[in-house]
Amino acid sequence: MKRIFSGVKPTGHLTLGNYLGAVRRWVEVDQHRSDSLFSVVDLHALTVEHDPARVRRLSRQAATLLLAAGLDPKLCTLFVQSHVDEHARLSYLLECTATDGELRRMIQYKEKGARALAAGEGVRLSLLTYPVLMAADILAYGTDEVPVGEDQTQHVELTRDLAVRFNQRCGQVFTVPKATHPEVAARVMDLQDPLSKMGKSHENAAGIVYLLDDEDTVRRKVMRAVTDSGTDVAYDREGRPGVANLLNLLAAATGGSPEDLAGAYQSYGALKRDTADALVALLRPVRERHAELAADPGYVDQVLRDGAERARGMARPLVDRAYRAIGLLPAG
Ligand code: TYM
Repeated sequence: MKRIFSGVKPTGHLTLGNYLGAVRRWVEVDQHRSDSLFSVVDLHALTVEHDPARVRRLSRQAATLLLAAGLDPKLCTLFVQSHVDEHARLSYLLECTATDGELRRMIQYKEKGARALAAGEGVRLSLLTYPVLMAADILAYGTDEVPVGEDQTQHVELTRDLAVRFNQRCGQVFTVPKATHPEVAARVMDLQDPLSKMGKSHENAAGIVYLLDDEDTVRRKVMRAVTDSGTDVAYDREGRPGVANLLNLLAAATGGSPEDLAGAYQSYGALKRDTADALVALLRPVRERHAELAADPGYVDQVLRDGAERARGMARPLVDRAYRAIGLLPAG
């Protein structure tokens, strides 16, 4: 059976981008067809300026939302990364496999590093080594597939390179994983700035649909989305990024294709109205289930405890094997 691993980091409230690019597929497809693990990767949230209480709150909220979206602990393993020591243990070995040069080439490091500097903050060393920890997350479980949005492609490529390099130098230990992406909405764009990815931590929330936004807020954000000059509705990702983004969202929410949907609209107003309706209908059950689960934190805690125990049992033998393969003397 295929092994699948993916994760979401609690740096902000989960967005429609997280849902359409990753989480919905975990729920609808991945957990049913594989031995899958999904993680709230909290160590990654410490790579940029953070407030400890907020990270703690967002970690619980992310786990609750993943359950609300439909992850079923009977079908998959859901856990918090920092509850399983193997991630950090393996990360060090992979730091001894990766080079400084290949990490400095990572796009997210360049972008987030520049943002931290512009804000007068230091760039944490962990921001540079972050993709190595991500590689450890994936490789610790012998993962075959990593279902992610398009923005994670470069990180999964690095993971593959590290797995191959380690195996060549030290002997076959790691499975070489591959990234998988959804057919539509692999890259959901910001509604106010359709040339940028919809991200959790953008300063301007007007362009970001959060999974916990109420219906009026979702509607308002979609109706105020930046569109392009021109009036006819056409699917052109380069020339008309704002309209293309709305068509992608509508397609993702209704199951159509963005090209076909474009032909059904004469005006931007009608497209926005239908997109807003479709997104409201898509997110309503997730928000309602979240409210129920949030009222029962004991249940969520139990799921995370069980998940961490199962994850530890899977990662431990493989990471031990990597420790021996790289040349470390086994303890007694
Ligand atoms: P994160 O927390 O930024 O995002 C979680 C998942 O959501 C996808 N995603 C998007 N997809 C489409 N459009 C968007 N606008 C959008 N924004 C986010 C991401 O591609 C991702 O699949 N480095 C990862 C977390 C991570 C991880 C891992 C993932 C850590 N270790 C191991 C997979 C395997 C991240 O920052 O995701």
